Amino acid sequence: MGQTLTEKASSPTSAELAWGRRYLLVRPDHFRVDYRINPYMDLADQPDAALARAQWDGLVAALVGAGASVESFDQPADAPDMVYAMNLGLAVTLESGAPLAVMSHMRFAERRRETESARRWFVSRGFGPSYIGRDGVGAHFEAGDAFPCGDALVVGFSPRTDELGLKAVATELGVRVRGLRITHPGMYHLDLAFCPLDRDRALVCPAAFDDASAQALLALVPDPLVLTEAEALTFCANAVVVGRTVLMPACPDRVRGILEGWGFDVVLVEVGEFHKGGGSVRCLTNPLDIVVGRDLPAVPGGEVLLPL
Ligand code: ARG
Repeated sequence: MGQTLTEKASSPTSAELAWGRRYLLVRPDHFRVDYRINPYMDLADQPDAALARAQWDGLVAALVGAGASVESFDQPADAPDMVYAMNLGLAVTLESGAPLAVMSHMRFAERRRETESARRWFVSRGFGPSYIGRDGVGAHFEAGDAFPCGDALVVGFSPRTDELGLKAVATELGVRVRGLRITHPGMYHLDLAFCPLDRDRALVCPAAFDDASAQALLALVPDPLVLTEAEALTFCANAVVVGRTVLMPACPDRVRGILEGWGFDVVLVEVGEFHKGGGSVRCLTNPLDIVVGRDLPAVPGGEVLLPL
């Protein structure tokens, strides 16, 4: 008993995330910067195909090394941004046990070409597909905006996902959605400013949001690691967590010190060619093992909560 108490008091760790052990990636066979839909994309600065492929292979090896399983498929030639697999859709297992993929309805038409081949892949893996924005309802949803955290799916909105999209996701999944308004042009998806680390902790960059949303997010995470804007712009929050391993494209010394103090292993993964399209480690990986009822509560019918 005494020993348990001592262990608890001195332990820097908290319960690991149950999800984040199975990922979808898209092999960069046709990765290019063909258009500009975020501030990082510059048509004059194209990725080197061989280097991008080598970096992607390194990311896959790092994921597997951390204990994750990886599935991938070949990139269609007409979808140069499809390497950012995080945005294809949100895959969950519903409370009923049925796997469901809520396909993204991308804000920019250039990326909507990705949806049909992504849908076929999810179906081939047993995920029933569901469509945001079908039937002419103009909802937008991009899955890089959505993560389970606390009692809800937190979903960033404004640059990409919109308020109709929040409602549609909440209804499709039967979960509580907490919307967070993103205002920073360089952090246009939630996954550039927020990364759940374990049950109590997350990387959070308040500068990405309006004041009410920043406060709401900080209130939701018991023990946030607050990033400055400069730290977040290294793409360090665009990280993937597998148990107690954090795979990051960069890690400022201050951030590393805190993560290691909390018992995480930081693994740096070089994916600089993919920064040319405006995405990093997390954007390239889509978790397939989120479970409603385990990782976030089921709320029949769904509900959306917005900061005031
Ligand atoms: N070029 C892509 C876009 O603008 C990059 C996506 C980055 N992905 C992410 N999950 N943040 O849509």
